[in-house]
Amino acid sequence: MYEITSLNDQGLGICYVNDKITFVSNTLIGDVVKLKIVKEHTKYNEAIVTRFLKNSPSKIKAKCPYFDKCGGCVLQNVNYNETLNFKKNKLQNILHKFAKIDVDVDIISSPKEFFYRNKISLKIKDSKIGYYSYGSNTLVEIKECIIASKAINEFIKEIPKFNIRNGEIVLRNNYNDELLIHIITNDDINIFPLDNYKVVGIIKNNELLKGEDHFIDIIDNKLFQVSYDSFFQVNREVASYIFKIIHKNIIKNKNVLDLYSGVGTLGINVCDISKTVYGIEIIKNAVLNSITNSKINNVFNTKYMLGDAAKVINKINDNIDVIIVDPPRNGLLRKEIDSIIKINPQQIFYVSCDPITLSRDLNLLCNNYNISKIIGLDMFPYTYHCESVCILERR
Ligand SMILES: C[S@@+](CC[C@H](N)C(=O)[O-])C[C@H]1O[C@@H](n2cnc3c(N)ncnc32)[C@H](O)[C@@H]1O
Repeated sequence: MYEITSLNDQGLGICYVNDKITFVSNTLIGDVVKLKIVKEHTKYNEAIVTRFLKNSPSKIKAKCPYFDKCGGCVLQNVNYNETLNFKKNKLQNILHKFAKIDVDVDIISSPKEFFYRNKISLKIKDSKIGYYSYGSNTLVEIKECIIASKAINEFIKEIPKFNIRNGEIVLRNNYNDELLIHIITNDDINIFPLDNYKVVGIIKNNELLKGEDHFIDIIDNKLFQVSYDSFFQVNREVASYIFKIIHKNIIKNKNVLDLYSGVGTLGINVCDISKTVYGIEIIKNAVLNSITNSKINNVFNTKYMLGDAAKVINKINDNIDVIIVDPPRNGLLRKEIDSIIKINPQQIFYVSCDPITLSRDLNLLCNNYNISKIIGLDMFPYTYHCESVCILERR
């Protein structure tokens, strides 16, 4: 028998089997378990529980019926405040370990603990619909996903009618519970009457089959057209906190670069208090969305550039005073950081969804910048992911 003594950054329980660190899914500190090692690596094992001999005092019943099988969520079996503590410790520990930054970080909670996601991506294998279990390609069939919005959950039962045998279906909903459906498959699919749902459009691969290939969503009273292949913040309510943090702290009347701008959200948010806002984004539809989004928000001081951030950043022919950067999980490339340092903005807002890549990048940026604030946000409740905004001021 083994006792779980701590959790790793992905919310997996840690114990030692013959002195080798072993990560055990769906366990909590204080659980005493019998386990089965499912994968042996040189430096660690992955294991699953075969029997709980003693339960952690923190344990509660997970709300999701698939929690112990599906790989999507962690820590659904403790109360929400404990998950916030986990994220606070995770962010602080990673900043300390990888960037030698010691800060007391607050995590802003999500107004919605469940039903917060406005987008999910379900796998379809041999006509079965679900998510892969943790670290594998084994499909766990699901009929609901309680971190996804209620509008998305309502629709899940209709998916079999599309007759997709193998592929993926991405369901998105907006503030008005309209749905945008993107199906990725080589199968011929069936389009059926959808009168009971507010389906705005159905796209198969990159072909529009029905309606529109985009819808309008809202964050913080601003309208955003979002195409099926454009990124959009998955937790609207927490995204609005990011808007407020940036709007409150940004130096006013300056030229701003919104690097990795998506549909223009973070840049448009500060247009009213900025000179010119430049955006750089690699997805064509997202750039087209951001041009539309400027118009529909009555904003006239934006300029968007399509292309790879690493290349396009060097083509801006203006002084940039503030950079807002919100990269994917991988963080910034070394050459992007070099370009940022060369541009020499007074202020940088680094919006990150991965504390490890954030810490790596801060190591380089902090030669020229001081950190004035780091704020954690629970954008993804009941997952191990941790969003943060780091405000850097030039020395
Ligand atoms: C985390 S999202 C942030 C988007 C936007 N700032 C927002 O808040 O909605 C990252 C964005 O970077 C874009 N992207 C990914 N790789 C890129 C690259 N090499 N150059 C420019 N944009 C890129 C993605 O398409 C996505 O829109």
